[in-house]
Amino acid sequence: MNFLESIKERARADKKTIVLPESMDKRTFEAAEKILKEGIANLIIIGTPEEIEENSKGFDISGATIVDPFNDPNKQKYIDKFVELRAKKGVTAEMAKEQMEKDYMYYACLMCKCGDADGAVSGACHSTGNTIRPALQLLKTKPGISSVSGFFVMDVPDCEFGDNGLFVFADCAVNTDLDSAKLAEIAGLSAESFKTFVGGEPKVAMLSYSSKGSAKHDDVTKVAEAVKIAHEKFPDLQLDGELQLDAALVPEVGELKAPGSPVAGHANTLVFPSLEAGNIGYKLVQRLAKAEAYGPVLQGLSMPVNDLSRGCFADDIVGVVAMTAVQAQLSK
Ligand code: ACO
Repeated sequence: MNFLESIKERARADKKTIVLPESMDKRTFEAAEKILKEGIANLIIIGTPEEIEENSKGFDISGATIVDPFNDPNKQKYIDKFVELRAKKGVTAEMAKEQMEKDYMYYACLMCKCGDADGAVSGACHSTGNTIRPALQLLKTKPGISSVSGFFVMDVPDCEFGDNGLFVFADCAVNTDLDSAKLAEIAGLSAESFKTFVGGEPKVAMLSYSSKGSAKHDDVTKVAEAVKIAHEKFPDLQLDGELQLDAALVPEVGELKAPGSPVAGHANTLVFPSLEAGNIGYKLVQRLAKAEAYGPVLQGLSMPVNDLSRGCFADDIVGVVAMTAVQAQLSK
């Protein structure tokens, strides 16, 4: 069974309720029909009767719950929750109502926060920033976590590296200002994500353009410091660095550049030193190696909320909903 089929099967085994706020996009409805037909999740779609009528034509979404943000008996509860969470930031009831009506992702996050949904997926027609900001503001991080980050499960065809071509890559989506402490935290979260989605033992490589001091620069020191912090925080985790990509993946190169390392040459979880490296890195592998890139999936949030690429197809939405549902199973 391929990666995505196994995730769908897990989602079906304990069905969760996922909210889709992008009723202004036809792909939402195409995906919703498939999700409902395959029994992957229960769905809530946020939209006015006009938006639903206009964009759902030709798709059977009769199994979904539709919530009209302008005419919802639960709306006051969500406004109250918004104010409770954001009053210190100056949010009034009027501002909360306006924001929820203008940007349905706020509505979706409040449904999650109030326990009416288990997770949310958006981003087919909104930027990453606009998709995840409401979640960062309203749902916040898990206890003990300072930063939300974004990973991809990369499924590389005909690949002898990683876990039979399966990898976790992070952070590819969120943090524009990675320091050593954040990198160490991302290493721990990514190892957990590897266990959740790929299974088996994570072997975490902290990537750099240097292997074990072969180059000297502040960028290298940042990663080497992150390795120290990660070893202290996660003493049982198989993690090493700083490592160049070839040293992380290729056994002979790993042996040469980092002899004795438990990770070099066998890494399956790659932590990139910056968002540029992570974002460019996953796209290179996706395009040149024709890998499937599942994500970005957010890690470190208190409840599962995930982003889509604006170039996504309906099947990508189905996949991200299945992954969100699996995260929701584990966060209960
Ligand atoms: N983890 C946890 N909380 C965070 C994080 C984070 N990584 N970043 C911001 N926050 C919190 C802030 O503390 C703040 O909370 P508060 O309002 O309660 O004080 C809230 O989120 C908003 O923070 P801002 O800094 O005001 O939000 P901003 O919109 O400027 O930035 C964002 C957050 C959207 C994540 C920004 O860092 C961003 O745009 N990152 C890059 C996203 C991107 O473009 N990725 C590449 C494309 S994705 C792809 O190709 C797959």
